[in-house]
Amino acid sequence: MTLNTSNNVQVPSFMYGTAWKKEATKDLVELAVENGFTAIDTANQLIHYDEARVGEALLALKAKGIKRDSLFLQTKFTNVNGQDHRTPYDAKANLTTQVKQSIDSSLQHLHTDHLDSYVLHGPFYRNGISDKDWEIWSEIEEQYKSGKTKTIGVSNVSASQLNELCTAAKVKPMFVQNRCFAATAWDQAVREICAAEKIIYQGFSLLTANSHVLGAPLVQSLCKKFGATPAQIIFAFSLQIGMLPLTGTSSAQHMKEDLKSNQFHLSAEDLKNIESCAS
Ligand SMILES: NC(=O)c1ccc[n+]([C@@H]2O[C@H](COP(=O)([O-])OP(=O)(O)OC[C@H]3O[C@@H](n4cnc5c(N)ncnc54)[C@H](OP(=O)(O)O)[C@@H]3O)[C@@H](O)[C@H]2O)c1
Repeated sequence: MTLNTSNNVQVPSFMYGTAWKKEATKDLVELAVENGFTAIDTANQLIHYDEARVGEALLALKAKGIKRDSLFLQTKFTNVNGQDHRTPYDAKANLTTQVKQSIDSSLQHLHTDHLDSYVLHGPFYRNGISDKDWEIWSEIEEQYKSGKTKTIGVSNVSASQLNELCTAAKVKPMFVQNRCFAATAWDQAVREICAAEKIIYQGFSLLTANSHVLGAPLVQSLCKKFGATPAQIIFAFSLQIGMLPLTGTSSAQHMKEDLKSNQFHLSAEDLKNIESCAS
């Protein structure tokens, strides 16, 4: 199953995330692709990700006959607030230069001449899109225009920040990647803007931020009805409301189960009940 971005790029409907994998990153990316994932999310941010090891997995997969073009590669620009001393750019350089250096380093790590998606990891501040964010976004737009990335996106944004970005950007984001809490009706305010702007919403922490929902009677009864796990019910829900879920599971069994979440159909009433279950 694939989704289509506003600029007509096909995206696999489920993404494998590589955060917190450390030295296991290479093996887990290979395992994920061998189990059927074709979209990989990473970031040029050594605190949480090891992008170079994602690249090592891509080389190993290439040697096994899995070509770069059969995979959707997404990585991120992380500003200095989200980095430690190991920045993939000269932290004293201006922000435009930092984006240029970071994306070039990502391309090197991933052994490719283009990305499928390049995401701003987050604005500098909780509120508003600051001048610093605009300088970064302008350079991300330039990288998109140059063809170094097929799509661009933004992560960790509020509804008002996304509105601000969409109103004034020369190139609007094609993706939003946010932590998705059931308590906010699964980030409904942001998802509504995404629907209006034809932005694909990528949801992370769907399981870890919502463990109370996985154990709720509603989800448990759907598990019985479909012979599914609670994780599969949450992923099926996310897929059927048009979200692109991320999973960073380290288990081959969970990888297989997660990808099978599109094999049963929740009714419109089930979807409505899950959407409102914790709000
Ligand atoms: N943009 C951002 O700021 C940001 C922040 C956080 C994450 N992300 C992205 O999102 C990805 C996913 O992160 P996440 O926060 O959603 O958490 P996650 O890394 O996917 O963690 C999921 C947890 O749930 C467990 N689990 C149990 N059953 C599962 C099942 N059937 N399928 C999957 N997991 C199952 C996993 O354990 P097992 O390993 O045993 O399955 C794991 O402990 C990250 O790798 C990263 O790429 C982005």
